[in-house]
Amino acid sequence: MNPSAARIVLTGAAGGIGREAAAAFVAAGAAVLLVGRSPAQLSAASRSIEASTSGSAGRIAWHVADLGKAAHVDELVAVATEWRCNVIVHAAGVPCFGALETVDLETMRQVLDINLLAPIRLTQALLPHLRSQARAQVICVGSALGSIGLPGFSVYSASKFGLRGFAEALRRELSGSSVRVQYVGPRSTRTSFNDASVEAYNAATGTAMDAPDVVAATLLRSLHDETPERFIGFPERLAVRLNGAVPTLLDGSFDKHRRSVPPPPAVTPAAGPQSLAAVSVPVESPGAPR
Ligand SMILES: NC(=O)c1ccc[n+]([C@@H]2O[C@H](COP(=O)([O-])OP(=O)(O)OC[C@H]3O[C@@H](n4cnc5c(N)ncnc54)[C@H](OP(=O)(O)O)[C@@H]3O)[C@@H](O)[C@H]2O)c1
Repeated sequence: MNPSAARIVLTGAAGGIGREAAAAFVAAGAAVLLVGRSPAQLSAASRSIEASTSGSAGRIAWHVADLGKAAHVDELVAVATEWRCNVIVHAAGVPCFGALETVDLETMRQVLDINLLAPIRLTQALLPHLRSQARAQVICVGSALGSIGLPGFSVYSASKFGLRGFAEALRRELSGSSVRVQYVGPRSTRTSFNDASVEAYNAATGTAMDAPDVVAATLLRSLHDETPERFIGFPERLAVRLNGAVPTLLDGSFDKHRRSVPPPPAVTPAAGPQSLAAVSVPVESPGAPR
């Protein structure tokens, strides 16, 4: 839709990509409801965007919500409906990098909760309102890692593959309605999302990193032209296509990536029951004399 007609609820609005996206949306004429967990960060982001964009007064609002809390999601839905949103951009997310053996259950739950369940739940609850709009858009911020599984990102990839599947299925489910469902897959991006270990992995594997304003510009483009699915960067775009067509084709291409994942701590074999080989079991042979 034309950005000047857009009233966008933006989760992750105080994050590296979210802040740039908010600024780009407002500069293009949209109204934006910034969503995040920190009132101080949201109000600072709102003030700085308003100060740098003339004519933006009255087009920026913010709301505090922890998307891991069902009551906060319900409250956000009520606020967003009252605010008459017609676009939701799901940009909140949490990272997860490391060998699978190093990821604890609480982290797995949080990654799946915030990256996958929260956008599904929020979209579902907002859908009756979005359907009532002349035109509406749901834009999911996924990842190249939602289409290509890389060593070290098994849990994160599970969340973003899920998000991509959600967007694809819902796009088809809502085809013919007033609601467009879109998915944007950035590659690695220079924000505090990536800690030193990911930066080292990227350096070792020659993985390029974009500035967050590249992702923001892509999100703005997707808002405007309503393209269903878009990936950022080459060779990632090509790899996404190849991996989609023949999922095992690239299996041999990630040795360097595998070697660049910090290894899990060595496991000392636990002293347990003797192995079967070590246990001598008296066996009767069929023809043995009794
Ligand atoms: N950076 C990358 O390399 C990269 C690459 C591809 C895709 N992405 C995706 O792009 C999106 C934005 O990433 P980013 O780089 O901007 O990361 P970021 O700077 O860490 O921002 C992430 C945002 O998610 C919000 N968030 C996390 N947990 C939340 C919760 N429980 N409730 C509400 N909000 C929560 C944070 O809100 P608070 O401000 O309240 O903490 C933060 O604003 C994510 O979905 C990420 O998966 C990132």
